[in-house]
Amino acid sequence: MTEARPGRVLISADDLQRRVSELAAEISADYEGRDVLVVGVLKGAVFFIADLVRQLTVPCELDFMAVSSYGSSTHSSGVVRILKDLDYPIAGRHVLVVEDVIDSGLTLTYLVRNLQSREPASLEICTLLTKPRHRELPLTTRYQGFALPDVFVVGYGLDYDERYRPLPHIAELDGVT
Ligand code: IMP
Ligand code: MG
Repeated sequence: MTEARPGRVLISADDLQRRVSELAAEISADYEGRDVLVVGVLKGAVFFIADLVRQLTVPCELDFMAVSSYGSSTHSSGVVRILKDLDYPIAGRHVLVVEDVIDSGLTLTYLVRNLQSREPASLEICTLLTKPRHRELPLTTRYQGFALPDVFVVGYGLDYDERYRPLPHIAELDGVT
């Protein structure tokens, strides 16, 4: 068995920053005149969120949730657990859920249903990455950075077994099936 490690770079650090700037401009235009509550999904989305919110031109607050649908493997377990809930109520707020990657969409489908029941004024999804499988679920993703093929990736916040989050780019993970 070979050890899993980052391989080919799929999205460079420059391309990530360029796309994040575009998304920030789009979100800022759409939310003009409104305050946005960015709900981040820990931990994979933290690098993306940090870069994104610093470029928003609308007032913005931050809150975080931690959910788990993955153990240490590269495949979804289909079971979603809330490990950490939001600090504040979201009723009447304009909520933008920011995710790192949507694969099966199971995690976000659960999360969106849960958040909708708290009656926000609006709720949209912004994800840095999507994979092909996410189209199987009726999940409307208003903002997305990049569409990936069906490969497992690490870097820019995304991990394999908690490793490789600090990489400045997105790389394919080698040595795992
Ligand atoms: P889903 O429920 O299958 O959509 O899985 C979403 C979650 O799985 C993401 O928020 C990530 O935490 C994790 N995940 C899915 N694909 C990858 C990947 O390629 N690299 C790292 N984490 C991933
Ligand atoms: Mg995640």
